[in-house]
Amino acid sequence: MADFDLSANFIPSLHKPASLLPIAKHRQNLLYLIETYPVTIVVGQTGSGKTTQIPQYLEQAGWCSDGKIIAVTQPRRVAATIVAIRVAEEVGCEVGKEVGYSIRFEDVTSSATRIKFLTDGLLLREALVDPLLSRYSVIMVDEAHERSLSTDVLLGVLKKILKRRPNDLRIIISSATLQAEDFLRFFMNDEDLQPKSSKPKEVSLDELISESSSGPQDDAFGGKTGRIISLEGRMYPVDVLYLETPAEDYVEKAVQTVFDIHTKEPDGDILVFLTGREEIDTAVQAISERAATLHPRAQTVMPLPLYAGLSTEQQMYVFEEAPENTRKVIFSTNIAEASITIDGILYVIDCGFVKLRAYNPLTGIETLTATPISKASATQRAGRAGRTKPGKCYRLYTEPSYHSLPTTTVPEIQRSNLAPVILQLKALGIDNIARFPFLTSPPSALLIRALELLFSLGALDTYAKLTTPLGTRMAELAVEPMMAKCLLSAPSFACLPEILTIAAMTSLGGNIFIHHHDGEKKKMETARRKFAAEEGDHITLLNVYQAFITRGRKEPKFCHENSLNFKALSRAVSIRAQLKRYLERFGIVVAETLSSSSNPNHQPLPLTVGGRDKGEQIRRCLTTGFFAHAAKMQPDGTFRNVAGGTVLYAHPTSLMFNRKADWVVFHEVVETGNKTFIRDVTRIEKGWLVEYAPEFYKIR
Ligand code: CDP
Ligand code: MG
Repeated sequence: MADFDLSANFIPSLHKPASLLPIAKHRQNLLYLIETYPVTIVVGQTGSGKTTQIPQYLEQAGWCSDGKIIAVTQPRRVAATIVAIRVAEEVGCEVGKEVGYSIRFEDVTSSATRIKFLTDGLLLREALVDPLLSRYSVIMVDEAHERSLSTDVLLGVLKKILKRRPNDLRIIISSATLQAEDFLRFFMNDEDLQPKSSKPKEVSLDELISESSSGPQDDAFGGKTGRIISLEGRMYPVDVLYLETPAEDYVEKAVQTVFDIHTKEPDGDILVFLTGREEIDTAVQAISERAATLHPRAQTVMPLPLYAGLSTEQQMYVFEEAPENTRKVIFSTNIAEASITIDGILYVIDCGFVKLRAYNPLTGIETLTATPISKASATQRAGRAGRTKPGKCYRLYTEPSYHSLPTTTVPEIQRSNLAPVILQLKALGIDNIARFPFLTSPPSALLIRALELLFSLGALDTYAKLTTPLGTRMAELAVEPMMAKCLLSAPSFACLPEILTIAAMTSLGGNIFIHHHDGEKKKMETARRKFAAEEGDHITLLNVYQAFITRGRKEPKFCHENSLNFKALSRAVSIRAQLKRYLERFGIVVAETLSSSSNPNHQPLPLTVGGRDKGEQIRRCLTTGFFAHAAKMQPDGTFRNVAGGTVLYAHPTSLMFNRKADWVVFHEVVETGNKTFIRDVTRIEKGWLVEYAPEFYKIR
């Protein structure tokens, strides 16, 4: 044989041949286990091929015959899209054909779809319509070790479904770390959990023969329920380096470390873990600026961001090989910790923090806060450097601080607002929440607070039963319960078209106004003011949307001149249409007024309805949903929420940032540094709180 393999030249550089992935040699065994047992737990290093290969193996082995679908769930939307695009490419189809993805408000699947990537939350939602998830022959719960809120709830629901479909449904749980036994034990039936009698039983010759063959051995751990399979991918050693003294500003330290590596260490790409978009944008910019001062003949650095909210094209850059003589530096959120594998990384820089949700049941406020990572996370992050050869990991913290980190991260179910989850479980017919099989039980304070909120919203009655139609409809709408309530009360305030727009706009999570470079910041602020409405941010959003559909959509120049994000606003149009379809399915007519198409100058809307102006109607309607997010402005300009304690600041992007107000309701809370900001804030009257949420304010 020639030592030059011609066919190798024809493998596109992007594709490492799938047959070389560690998972390839486990293919037969994997398929055998999946065929034989209801539950298979797959443990393996990141990058071994679990997410991209298993669904393809299953499809080829016939699990999609008779029109069934293979579902692969992801805790993050970005991961679902990125991975679907990759698998479609490997299969050689367009995304949305044989391979597709489905995330909230974006369904890229068709009747041809056989492999479907979706968020765990969305699969739960599908169970509302198809309680046994009967379209699926195999459901793979990916990244289960991350223990996202929806993953945990999904596992409980799947356990119930499996009891009803023991013969035709297969469940695969993939996990990057060793929580495998916990997952398997969770699915085991009572009989499998019974300790086996230790008395030696008499065996016939026949039984001995069948035992020595490779048939299922029921007294192995997992009994008849399932098995654990490990794909021990090869890992190279990673040198871990710590700081001697803590870093004051880890973003700056990360940037310095990048240049240290770049100037002193051999070739190889760098992966930097930061906590969020703002930090990442700052770091990317700092690298670009300082790179210009490097020696002109030096190798170049190419900083790239990776976080949710980037466009698909932008996300794809991180997978492309860097041009010659260029070192890629990827600044990423936790996405790159396990969900996404980037080849060619030799250096990892770990800031030691991650943004985590934390819900305080006393104040009813959920924040996303930068929190120290766990040891498990730190190990996982370091491992990203040792995939192709020995690498290095720079921890931007001291060794003693590493030792003081918690072993694992607290599962989300123990630190989240559970109202959306309880509403969904109730809608699935699971009334006794206390008896639901949770992998880890949520603290009762969280459960009580959630039930209290759902009751005040009118979704549950005094027996904690779902109300009809309000409760069932709230569960079906793809927005959180508070916004769902607003949508459903909007007809009685004659402002449904407006609330639909507000619901769509707030689903975008910011980035409606954009600037491309610092010089445009001023222009952006001017634009923001142009759309501002005295009443607050919600009506401002409405003004922006109106302007977009009347002018911006047709004249791209208009968006540019007004610093509007064309892509985000187009998404709002699509989300709005989807929400409208939900309402129409409930038989609710959305009477679009002419104001949305004949108001070219995006004037604020002082149209009057029944004596009250439209603005007031909208603000009252918002209060019916967001009463639990009420706050009062203090003389110093900060806010206090109703429960007292928490000091809240109006977000710099909010109209209330430096204006006077009395009482307000807000959509969400964001935490930056050590300040808690409220975003999307609207003025209300104190009296409305008692008018629309008497129970809630009686309870307080
Ligand atoms: O799920 P797991 O971490 O086990 O691995 P995977 O995501 O299936 O990735 C298998 C291989 O595909 C890795 O070597 C990745 O580098 C590659 N891959 C890629 O190049 N681009 C993607 N968008 C996804 C995976
Ligand atoms: Mg994976």
